[in-house]
Amino acid sequence: MEFFAKNSVQLIFYMKSGVDHTIPTVRMKERTNFNLLDILRILGGLILLNAFLSWHFTSTKTWGYDGKWVNPRYLKHICSFKSYHFTLEELSLFDGSDPNLPIYLAINGSVFDVTASPQIYGPKGSYSFFSGKDAARAFVTGCFKKEDEFTYDLRNLDSTEAEADIKSWQNFFLSSGRYFYVGTVEHPPLVGEPPALCSGKKFPH
Ligand code: HEM
Repeated sequence: MEFFAKNSVQLIFYMKSGVDHTIPTVRMKERTNFNLLDILRILGGLILLNAFLSWHFTSTKTWGYDGKWVNPRYLKHICSFKSYHFTLEELSLFDGSDPNLPIYLAINGSVFDVTASPQIYGPKGSYSFFSGKDAARAFVTGCFKKEDEFTYDLRNLDSTEAEADIKSWQNFFLSSGRYFYVGTVEHPPLVGEPPALCSGKKFPH
């Protein structure tokens, strides 16, 4: 009997009911440390709470931000550490006509992903003529009505002006929060005469 009862009150309970009311002597081991699962639970909770609040206040999951840091294609691209090298023919596939492919444009050899602005670079976009090609020359001259301006051929242009314009446009696409650099495009050697001189309106913004 002593084995079950630690004091007289427990002994009375035991004798009346026949049930052992002994307080368990082996106590649960107290948890003092967070484990990985706890951390994951807290993080998951915070992500859910953040998404809920963002949806509530902005009707988007990212507080209205839709730049490249929430673009799965950009995240995949930077995680792959890859830089692509296209031929002009390959680049032409990325002109926005195939909705399953991204939209690319090139400026003097550098290729950028501009899929984030289909209203500008998509088939009906205001600047769709730049998509799927390296139209460095048109970026300098601003002549958008002449088919042969959409080329990487910069011959006969003022080289200082061309270099400055091209650098400035490449910087625009590089530093944009929506577009990103994907690689380079090959320039076959230029043959024949350069396009006739044309000067359109300069970029006003
Ligand atoms: C060398 C001349 C020019 C070049 C290379 C050029 C190029 C561009 C490009 C690449 C964009 C798209 C920017 C983006 O992705 O956000 C753009 C937008 C725009 N450009 Fe030009 N541009 C030129 C001249 C002009 C001129 C002369 C005007 C007007 C008089 C103009 C009006 C606009 C407007 C209104 C937009 C916004 C388009 C939209 O959101 O759909 N541009 N330009």
